[in-house]
Amino acid sequence: MADDRRYLTTPIYYVNDRPHIGHVYTTLLADVLARAHRQRGRDVFFLTGTDEHGLKVEQSARARGIPPKALADENSRAFRDVMSFMEMTNDDFIRTTDPDHERQVGVLLQRLLDSGDIYLGEFEGWYDEGQEEYYTETKAAEVEYRSPVSGKPLVRAREKNYYFRLSAYQARLEAMLGEQPGFVRPEARRNEVSGRLREGLQDVPISRTNFTWGVPMPGDPEHVVYVWIDALFNYITALGLAEPQSDRFRARGAYWPATCHLMGKEILWFHAVIWPALLMALGLPLPQCVYAHSFWIREGQKMSKSLGNFLDLPTIERYVSHYGLDAWRWYLVTQGPLGATDANFADSHFHDVYTTDLVNTVGNCASRVSAMIGKYFDGALPIAGADVQHGADWPESWPRLCDDAVQAAEEALARQDLVRFADAGIGLLRRVDAFINRTEPFKVAKDPARRDELAAILVTCAEAVRVAGTLLHPILPGRMEELLAAFGGAGAPAAPFAWGRLSAGTSVTKVALYPRAERLTAGADV
Ligand code: MSP
Repeated sequence: MADDRRYLTTPIYYVNDRPHIGHVYTTLLADVLARAHRQRGRDVFFLTGTDEHGLKVEQSARARGIPPKALADENSRAFRDVMSFMEMTNDDFIRTTDPDHERQVGVLLQRLLDSGDIYLGEFEGWYDEGQEEYYTETKAAEVEYRSPVSGKPLVRAREKNYYFRLSAYQARLEAMLGEQPGFVRPEARRNEVSGRLREGLQDVPISRTNFTWGVPMPGDPEHVVYVWIDALFNYITALGLAEPQSDRFRARGAYWPATCHLMGKEILWFHAVIWPALLMALGLPLPQCVYAHSFWIREGQKMSKSLGNFLDLPTIERYVSHYGLDAWRWYLVTQGPLGATDANFADSHFHDVYTTDLVNTVGNCASRVSAMIGKYFDGALPIAGADVQHGADWPESWPRLCDDAVQAAEEALARQDLVRFADAGIGLLRRVDAFINRTEPFKVAKDPARRDELAAILVTCAEAVRVAGTLLHPILPGRMEELLAAFGGAGAPAAPFAWGRLSAGTSVTKVALYPRAERLTAGADV
């Protein structure tokens, strides 16, 4: 993969569900990564979409008396709408009912049939009807023969099915996990996958005959391919990988292998084991990373259909209209379950984080600096950023502080560590605040003999605010656009992260980015 290319994906979401915070969270992580890489001049392809086949969609559609495609169209639209409402910058939105996808799934299956990686066989096992998933004996015993999702008993099922020869890939998968330690992230998840892998792999059934809403097995249309296999292929059909003669492949083929597949922890196994084995069988390179975050819970409780407490779209919309989209994005990115533990979404916590980080730190710092430049220098920088001489009453070099923050953000970005990434930007603004408190420009301003000192302090602040705003832009695209416009114009100069881009005379206008807000109690009506 060329060094400047990045391919980022989210799971494709089931259309028998309505969008909620979980879907929005994963897509937001991918969006921030995508924006950050683009901002650094990289060529990014960011994919999300919907997973539309399978028994559950067929059943839900039947219950409503409409064709499955009509249900899929309606709910896929809901996902697409929420993504644009959240200002996600995905480059495509794939649907597994796209003819382009369905056709390529047929081609890929035929290849696997030809190579003997898919064969017809018989199977008996523990089946979770809700999840359309078989469990191994060990896993079934572990969940006490009940679906960990719906709580319903697992059933004993026997089927003549097509199988994927997963067992043949055990050794290669183990070797790969050993050689590519960053393949499964975060670290704790990798250990889980390795542990389960050591229990041994069995071949997996990949077709069903109990429904018709799906892609037929080539040459045996009574069998429909298992929705998970169909779904996993989306990552390569979106790039046209099964059809190297196609326009799609010409435009997008070079994005493979993926930089990072992002997802929730519950579907890691499919991505960390089954997916790489399928790719090995197809002779395709493996993604660099599969990243599994943990779960959002709400006000201390797991979100579930039975509790009816999913943080759903109407609630999300209330947060966004009350606090603004930046606030929503900031809370999710900085407080979310990015690591190996779940995260709690609570009204009061949301409010406190908004007030502390966005109102009191980002907003306050930008408004302080812009107001002082307005007041003492008529809103025009008295000297160029590059010409500032730094006084002795601040122990660190500002160009170095900014460089370090840019470097820390870059390293965090490479590890998908968006909490550190956010810290790099906001940390710089905390330093600006400390610098202002220490150098007291409002006092310096009182002495006409100290004009040069005052100029140096405020231009230093302006440079640092500009660099911080640039660093924070992928998370806070709304207000950071405004901030950058106020500090010298949004027309981002080349090398926007470098110190000293502001020239003498640059106009700085006063900004008020994040207003104080009343606390919103959205939990009350759950
Ligand atoms: N269709 C499959 C994925 C196929 S990918 C080839 C699927 N869809 S889903 O609609 O159930 O979406 C699952 C994803 O939603 C999770 O992996 C995660 O990204 C997100 N979340 C669902 N609930 C969540 C939380 N409570 N918290 C955080 N994210 C979770 O599985």
